[in-house]
Amino acid sequence: MVDAAHPHVVLVGLSGTGKTSIGRLVAQRLDMPFADTDDTIEARTGRTVREVFAEDGEPLFRKLEADVIAELIAAQEPTVIAAGGGAVVTPATRERLRMPETFCVWLTAEPAFLASRAAGKAHRPLLDDDPVATLTRLATERQAWFEEVAEAVVSVQPALTSEPKPQAKARLADLITDMVQMRRRRHTLDHLVLVGPMGAGKSTIGEIVAKRLDRPYIDSDDEVERRTGRTARQIAAAEGLAALHRLELTVLRDSLSKETPAVIGSAASVVDESTGRLALGMARHVVWLHADAEHLARRTAASGHEHRPIVDSSVVQQREPLYRSVATAMVDVDDLAPEVIADKALAS
Ligand code: S3P
Repeated sequence: MVDAAHPHVVLVGLSGTGKTSIGRLVAQRLDMPFADTDDTIEARTGRTVREVFAEDGEPLFRKLEADVIAELIAAQEPTVIAAGGGAVVTPATRERLRMPETFCVWLTAEPAFLASRAAGKAHRPLLDDDPVATLTRLATERQAWFEEVAEAVVSVQPALTSEPKPQAKARLADLITDMVQMRRRRHTLDHLVLVGPMGAGKSTIGEIVAKRLDRPYIDSDDEVERRTGRTARQIAAAEGLAALHRLELTVLRDSLSKETPAVIGSAASVVDESTGRLALGMARHVVWLHADAEHLARRTAASGHEHRPIVDSSVVQQREPLYRSVATAMVDVDDLAPEVIADKALAS
């Protein structure tokens, strides 16, 4: 049966991102059937994709592609589907890919890199002339559509350029398999996680909420310090923000995997990557402590935050829609007393 806990897994992205080969590996790992939309069109029409483009034109090809995707998604058995690079141009397909019964992963890479991998293949007539220019144009035209449908984004280029292809594809398939498993557990873990920017009061509120629920409180900053003997700020200075964010994500995932229901104060950065958003999605309650920029500036200045690195205010802004996408509730902290905010978090 297909439902939000057993969704279809749909890989989207431009030609050359490895949707078919990586999709096959994901299907093997999850013991799910696999389908490639181009192969299905060819089997169904008895013609190659190139022939369909040449004889019927692109609009008819898009219609066939949309019909194939509709049928694959209507099937009762959860399937890993590698969608043709242009599948997202069709509005009805995008609507299907946004449903909770489909988990859509967008594979990305730079057009020049993709052109070196994708050009010259029989089923890609669009890339016959100047593949770099064509893929650059398609990347721009389709960017917003990929963003609209994808719950997770995987950049394939670093793995594919740094190690032999079989190992790189296996690593990418492992990553996507892990994402699928997190997505299947959506809202099944009985934790309450507080998310939001630095200065919103996650630790103070978290402790009050934990006390009221008689649950342990797990604070990201404290965990980072306990594990490394260093503050978040020291780690960021020595190893860079990216290294700190990786550690904060590990802390979140370890906290979520605890059996005892807890209240978890997560790091502000955990929403940046889709793996972090998927991890948060496993918690039953994700409360976003929302504060406006002025409030945050005042609070950060007032209470010494010497244990945390300073984060640019534009980063704080960029994270707002990401918090919104993972939150099951939002509490506006404004100038409210911590007890009042805790009440609201508990009522949400
Ligand atoms: C297309 C991508 C191709 C194939 C057709 C059109 C596109 O699939 O469906 O040539 O519009 O991007 P791949 O993504 O498997 O190359």
